[in-house]
This record gives sequence, C-alpha cells and structure tokens, in this order.
Amino acid sequence: MIRVAVVGAGGRLGSQVCRVVEAEDDFELFARLGSKDSLEALAGADLVVDVTRHDVSPAVVASALAHGARVVVGTSGWSAERLAELQDSLDEGQTVVVIPNFSLGSTISTVVAGLIARHIPAVEIVETHHINKVDSPSGTAIRTAEIVSEARGDVSGLDGIPAVPQGAESQPARGHNVAGVPVHSLRLPGVLAQQDVVFAGAGETVTLSHVTLSRDSYDAGISATLRFAASPAHTGLIVGLDRVLGISA
Ligand SMILES: NC(=O)c1ccc[n+]([C@@H]2O[C@H](COP(=O)([O-])OP(=O)(O)OC[C@H]3O[C@@H](n4cnc5c(N)ncnc54)[C@H](OP(=O)(O)O)[C@@H]3O)[C@@H](O)[C@H]2O)c1
Repeated sequence: MIRVAVVGAGGRLGSQVCRVVEAEDDFELFARLGSKDSLEALAGADLVVDVTRHDVSPAVVASALAHGARVVVGTSGWSAERLAELQDSLDEGQTVVVIPNFSLGSTISTVVAGLIARHIPAVEIVETHHINKVDSPSGTAIRTAEIVSEARGDVSGLDGIPAVPQGAESQPARGHNVAGVPVHSLRLPGVLAQQDVVFAGAGETVTLSHVTLSRDSYDAGISATLRFAASPAHTGLIVGLDRVLGISA
C-alpha cells in the first residue's frame, strides 16, 4: 500500500484528489491536512500531494521532502524561476512532480497544437473561462502559445502570420501578445473553460478545441500522476502531465 497524504484536502481540488486516492486499490489515504494542521503529520507518508495556495506550496514541498516522501504539486503559481530553485535544491533520489493542469484532453491538445504549428504557423488562441477567473490570459493559454511559438520557430520572413501589435494602444482588440501569438480572453457566466487554437494555412483553417465540461476531467490525470510519482523509476523534478503520459513534444 502506498500511503498518501493530501495537503489542502478540504479544498475543491484536494477533495477530488482524496476521492481518486480512495478509489485506487493500492493507495491508502493516510492523512488529510488543512490550514490548521501541522505539517509534522506528514511523517510516515510515502507520497504527499500539495493542492493548497501558491504562497503555501513551497513550505509543504520542503516539509514533505524532509519527511522522506515523494511529492506531487497541483497548486498553481510555480514560476520557471521557482521551479529552477526547487530543482537545484533536490537531493539525489528525491522526486517532485509538478502538474499545472491535470486535464488529459487539455494536455494532449497542447501537444498536438505544437505539432500542427510546425507545419501551419499562422495561429491565434481564444480562451474562455467563467466570469470569476481572476487572471488572463489563462496559464494554459500562455503555455500553449509558448509551445506553438517554439514549435514554429522563426516566422519573421513568412507571409500570413497574424500581425500582433506590440503596443496595446495601437490595436488592443487584436489580442494579447504571448510569445508572438495573439491570445484573446473571454470571461462569460456559465462557461467552465474552453480553449480554441485556430490555425490558418493556404486555403484552410484548423481549429483545435478543448472544452471542460466538469472537474471530472482531472480524475484520469490525477490517477496517472499518483502512479507515476509513486514509482521509484521516476526521480528529480518532473513538470507537466505530458511528461507523465510520455507524450512531450
Ligand atoms: N493542477 C490543476 O489541474 C489544478 C486544477 C484546479 C486548481 N488548481 C490549483 O490548485 C490549488 C487549490 O485549488 P482549489 O480550487 O482546491 O482551492 P481551494 O478550494 O481554495 O482549496 C485550497 C485548500 O488549501 C488549504 N490551505 C490553505 N492554506 C494552507 C496551509 N497553510 N496549510 C495547509 N493547507 C492550506 C485550504 O485549507 P483550509 O480549508 O483549512 O483553509 C484549502 O483546503 C490552487 O492553486 C489552484 O489554482 C490546479
């Protein structure tokens, strides 16, 4: 049995992680921790899942590692800089798996977007989220734009690539420039999350559309991540569900 401690267990994502752990035969829900609990309760856990807040998450990760546990981070807000610091601090044999997005469909869509961009480089992204989302563009849209941008390479000499204005004052309705890709953010009541990546080639368009219907979309990614992180074959810092699934571009 792999003993799993969930920090942030009372939250929306935390309670979902607990449900997934309880549904697995070879995982045991060893501890459910919240903001009022001491991290000393992590002692004895094989695997710690952090689903708290970006300002709390580093201390949870440090404590889990100090207690000899392997770690999964689902908390948002781990910047590239913070991840680099974490990587430098890891001892040999320690494992931290950071998953910014547990959705299987979203992860696969992003990988496929990179594949399409290699051949059809003109692209814009439209992301729609519920009205209460505080940030824009979404983290997934930013990551998709970065992957698309990297995959298509230098487009400066190509015709037909959407011209993104550098200054917001010139044409703000043309979207926000992320790594040279225009990103348009819609915030609408009743929508959970949707991302459309629209490519245009000569005489054709391709639209890659991912729609989140419910948070159930995280279950398969959470389950795959728990298994991946529990395996002694995986050590060091591993970032992204694409790495867990073995489908990175
Ligand atoms: N990776 C993904 O796919 C994905 C998906 C959705 C959300 N997220 C991210 O996951 C995180 C949690 O989201 P959520 O929607 O579940 O938020 P939430 O419902 O507000 O839950 C946050 C949880 O963190 C706990 N917490 C806060 N401070 C703590 C501390 N010092 N020690 C221990 N626990 C503490 C809270 O415990 P109390 O109840 O005791 O206050 C609460 O249960 C956020 O960063 C969110 O952006 C990631």
